[in-house]
Amino acid sequence: MAADKQDHLSPTRTSGLTNGGEEPALHRPIGLLAELTHRCPLGCPYCSNPLALDPRERELDSPTWTRVFGEAAALGVLQVHLSGGEPGARRDLVEITAAAHSSGLYTNLITSAVGITANTVEKLVDAGLDHVQISIQDSDAASADHIANYPSAFARKRALADRVVALKIPLTVNCVVHRANIDRIRAMVELAVSIGASRVEIAHVQYYGWALRNRASLMPTADQVPRAVKAVEELRKRYHGKIVIDAVLPDYYARFPKPCVGGWGRRSLNVTPAGKVLPCHAAEVIPNLEFWHVQDHSLADIWANSPAFKAFRGTAWMKEPCRSCERREIDYGGCRCQAFMLTGDAAAADPVCHLSPHHPNVVALAARQYDEPYSYRLNPRKADSDALVG
Ligand code: SF4
Ligand code: FES
Repeated sequence: MAADKQDHLSPTRTSGLTNGGEEPALHRPIGLLAELTHRCPLGCPYCSNPLALDPRERELDSPTWTRVFGEAAALGVLQVHLSGGEPGARRDLVEITAAAHSSGLYTNLITSAVGITANTVEKLVDAGLDHVQISIQDSDAASADHIANYPSAFARKRALADRVVALKIPLTVNCVVHRANIDRIRAMVELAVSIGASRVEIAHVQYYGWALRNRASLMPTADQVPRAVKAVEELRKRYHGKIVIDAVLPDYYARFPKPCVGGWGRRSLNVTPAGKVLPCHAAEVIPNLEFWHVQDHSLADIWANSPAFKAFRGTAWMKEPCRSCERREIDYGGCRCQAFMLTGDAAAADPVCHLSPHHPNVVALAARQYDEPYSYRLNPRKADSDALVG
């Protein structure tokens, strides 16, 4: 990690400073998610891209990303996640990676591995790439290709993962789990171990955006969840010291919500392909938030003053039961986007919390499971880019 970055920080931007008055503490962000493009060859039924995609014509160019990385580093950001869509769709990915590295940022490439060749990954490593995260859809190749809606996706992922490890770059395998594959967590972790990954992340589908359309087809059963928890406990013991296993309970079966993005406007920011800066990747689902763009404002100005970032920073915006809850500075009331999507009120407690008056609706939604064919995400191609919303 870019430990030397600490020396570059202005002493006026240290963590925990307040804006004065009633303003909440202004922490400095540590992570930047750079969504380089929304283009992606896969069609996952739980795609986390927003419903309205930025077309290729509006993607930020590499000089703008270079400026943004410099501003991020000056603001205190330590790591940048080069993401998408599929970042391999950018022809200037090597240049962008080099710019992030030159800014002193720890660079993590988040890729589906489809569209990144072994040759490209070597160039990325030469450009300063520090870490790679590859998602896999399943340990079973046929099932993985079915979920991704892309023949041979699994084989390509495996080949790229082997190449990354051979280059001695730390690798995280990200396994998105849901009803069709949650019973193969053991096999997925064993696959990650056999590849030589240093970390595996068991990430349950988040029911935002496109995944909402497939919620009933993706939702795990009540029986599967405790089996998965037990499997993770056993795997952690078995592979202690060999691989790090990160896993959380699926939201809809949890008792308390997760501290989404580490707290709104507290730890991280997202820059969309067209330059809009968001407190989290799904923030655009919340109506009437005013987002600022990197073309119009510096990242420091956006972080401190953008209305969207200020909307749910701190705890003053909270209603009951969060307002008087002892966990309000542990989970920050959960996920604002999920609160809005499930209750219509972005300032409500995340209803996956058992203290929320809306929690019974979540229990009912978790029980709705239908084996219908997936509605796959059709991602932008040149021919249909005109139909995309910018
Ligand atoms: Fe978190 Fe609010 Fe639930 Fe308390 S009431 S646990 S702060 S979501
Ligand atoms: Fe937006 Fe959780 S995804 S706050």
